[in-house]
Amino acid sequence: MRIAIVKNAKELGERAFVEIKKVISEKPDAVIGFATGATPVALYEKMADDHKHGGLSYKQVKAFNLDEYVGVDPNGKASFKRFMADTLFSKIDIDPANTDIPNGMAQDLEAECARYSAAIKENPADLQILGIGENGHIAFNEPYTKPDEPTHIALLTASTRAANASAFKDPSLVPQYALTMGINEILTAKRILLLALGERKAQAIYDMIMGRDDTSCPATALRKHPDVTVVLDREAASLLTIKEWEKGSAQAEESAEAPATEQTEEAEQTPVAEQTEEAEQTPVAEQPAETEQAEEQPEVREEAAESAPEAEAETEEQVEETSAPVEEEVAESGPPTDEVPTYPEEQEEVAATYEDAGEEAEVEDLTVQEEPAQENRGKKKKKHRR
Ligand code: GLP
Repeated sequence: MRIAIVKNAKELGERAFVEIKKVISEKPDAVIGFATGATPVALYEKMADDHKHGGLSYKQVKAFNLDEYVGVDPNGKASFKRFMADTLFSKIDIDPANTDIPNGMAQDLEAECARYSAAIKENPADLQILGIGENGHIAFNEPYTKPDEPTHIALLTASTRAANASAFKDPSLVPQYALTMGINEILTAKRILLLALGERKAQAIYDMIMGRDDTSCPATALRKHPDVTVVLDREAASLLTIKEWEKGSAQAEESAEAPATEQTEEAEQTPVAEQTEEAEQTPVAEQPAETEQAEEQPEVREEAAESAPEAEAETEEQVEETSAPVEEEVAESGPPTDEVPTYPEEQEEVAATYEDAGEEAEVEDLTVQEEPAQENRGKKKKKHRR
């Protein structure tokens, strides 16, 4: 699992677009799994803007969406079908015949689920975009959903209905049911890109990466997948700490200064006992299996190195120049405070460089700046939602 921390929604869109571009450039007829919700909007805007200015073509792309409400008019504003049309599909050259989404108005919903499952099986996604619910759901797979359930009718929790109420005139109009792709079906994608913005997602992100590995947080299933990129803003990442990532449940993207091989050795050599001690409030049982992670890490790093976008080479000099000041900033930043971390001017500069370059090394720099907030996160961690 690679983790990129970005400053805001715009950067999230740009960073996520790097993944889309990589996949579609390599395979113009790629199958992309799309997600709805507020989080991927910045990505869809970036895709639309890039396309408008002569960028990627989606003519041969096939699109499958994760889910749809039951009983909502597909032309109405609240439907995910309409959301995709308005937010993205009408702004790129995708063939509407190549877009599919579960039909929540089908007479026979079970038959519709079976149709969708078969379609996904026939067209496994080259890249699946995901958001995450505040309760850790992916698509509409709510806590305790069995991972092997294929596309199915999901009963939505009260918290999910409340979180999604803004699309409806009245919260009572949020449907109780939705059709959703299943968890294992999501995992059939070759690559997964999970996006999260805002503090209200922080607990779910913590649980997904560091929490107990069970169905109480459906997103923990992603730990089984060999190619997951998680793009977060600082607020969504606010319960994570660098130390925890280094323990092997996840790995921040490599910086230009720290070659991947060195990091691998360090991770392998750290004794388990030492890791536990450092974990503070994180019980060992809540951490993902060390062995599984250790096996996956080298692969993930190799992939990250291979997949570095072209622009990275062009801006290498720029990256190196900006790295040093950031390190100094960290060293001078002093002990943790209860203050919410802010962006000093120097860091803004780094972020701006990242914006231009859109590169992973700069993302790593931003994660390094997370350190002063670790104490804060430790405190928040005690407030577990379940
Ligand atoms: C809905 C969708 C999910 C999405 C989630 C988060 O529940 N079914 O696929 O990830 O909302 O939405 P948002 O990005 O608006 O927070």
